[in-house]
Amino acid sequence: MKLILENNVFANIHADIAVRMVDSSMLEALEERALLERFGFKGKSEESCLLLERGLLFCGVEDFSNDALRQAATTAIRTLWKLQTPRVKFEGFGLERIAALVEGVVLGGYRFERYKSEKSECAIREVVFASTSHEGVLEPYDAMKSRFEAARIVAEATNYTRDLVNATPEEIYPEALAQAARDLAERNDLTCTVLDEAALDAEKMMAMLAVGRASCHQPRLIHLAYTPQNPTKVITLVGKGLTYDSGGLSLKPAASMVTMKMDKAGACAVLGILKAVSELGLPIEVHGFIGVAENMVDANSYKPDDVLRARSGKSIEVRNTDAEGRLVLADVLDYAQSQVQADYLFDYATLTGACVVALGPYTSGVMGHSESLKAAALQAADQSGELVGVLPFNRHLKKLIKSEIADVCNVSSKPYGGAITAGLFLDHFIREEMKQKWLHFDIAGPAYTESAWDCNSYGATGAGVRLTLALLQQL
Ligand code: BES
Ligand code: ZN
Ligand code: ZN
Repeated sequence: MKLILENNVFANIHADIAVRMVDSSMLEALEERALLERFGFKGKSEESCLLLERGLLFCGVEDFSNDALRQAATTAIRTLWKLQTPRVKFEGFGLERIAALVEGVVLGGYRFERYKSEKSECAIREVVFASTSHEGVLEPYDAMKSRFEAARIVAEATNYTRDLVNATPEEIYPEALAQAARDLAERNDLTCTVLDEAALDAEKMMAMLAVGRASCHQPRLIHLAYTPQNPTKVITLVGKGLTYDSGGLSLKPAASMVTMKMDKAGACAVLGILKAVSELGLPIEVHGFIGVAENMVDANSYKPDDVLRARSGKSIEVRNTDAEGRLVLADVLDYAQSQVQADYLFDYATLTGACVVALGPYTSGVMGHSESLKAAALQAADQSGELVGVLPFNRHLKKLIKSEIADVCNVSSKPYGGAITAGLFLDHFIREEMKQKWLHFDIAGPAYTESAWDCNSYGATGAGVRLTLALLQQL
């Protein structure tokens, strides 16, 4: 499917189907009003009405906000998916809205069918957008075009992340994810270094090594870097890459284990962000550090009661082997800070079920010490179409991860506030000079879905990619 921005008004663009976005107040004035009424079309969100002989698809919108247009473009592309209408056109809604339309089409039109013998064929060949304002007047084409291209790059990077996350643990084990990173580096002119088990051992990353110990696949640490000349900022991104999380000896119940291939979503988001940053040619240096391991069970498993010595020198009492992501991140965060003096440090992890309980399944939790940085994350979320909520640290919760026998415990002594205590655990591995520059994103809720919402279909959503691209452009 090819996306085209045409320097033309909607009426003059040739297409097999014209998509019209309408709210309920516009129905009255429409030529097709009687027909739409007969179909029961009211112009509500997620509603659509196809008048095939007239070459028209009406999609309802609550208003003309980015969220509403993204949803409507998603509805449109899904409705038209199988029709023999190779060329489809959309109205333009101005500079501030073009990205949402592109996202609706590219993200809403995503389907993961790698393991299906019969793939659903999409007959749409070209999707054309009019380069106009909401009023239908031509916008300056170059300005429109650069927003359009940027949105396409970000949306495609999001789908790249989705493809990786959706792949089975059979296919994506730590070395396979490292290979995916090398492939990306080669295609996008990034540098890529991979640390194998021996190198992790030499770095004394005993927390991460313990997590990966029971798997037949050795853990890996991936360092990807995008280094343009004269960068204005240096950014470090860290991702949790559990290619499978069985829980380890603190084994997950059968029902909770299903979908745990998605425990690599933080890692894959970092890969997608680097893909987009390099394709956009942003003037910032970006480093991605990804800890990849598989949390499994065998005679060599790490155990509740173990005390691990992390790379930073801190000792960690393990009381639950299912709180493994923070152990991996403890070492990767420390390594990342030793390698790069960054202006900002962001980490991404499907870290806690508690975050899903706190914010619901659609919203990522953001934590950190800098109020202004958290505010920037909220603003970026608004802009990007992702949802983010701040979870506040406090000194009382901090006490709950104290250990009687080690420097810190990997789980809280109380059952509530688990997303925050996990964030406070990570805080133990953030160096003093980085405290104000760090944000932790718990993407456990939105990273994966078993029912479609917004522009997300079944499976991985690519959470974190759009959000971070918006954030990076703000900093
Ligand atoms: N990967 C899980 C968190 C998770 C849960 C992600 C549900 C997505 C959906 C993580 O490693 C985990 O198991 N966390 C435990 C922590 C607990 C043992 C303190 C959890 O959330 O139950
Ligand atoms: Zn776990
Ligand atoms: Zn996990």
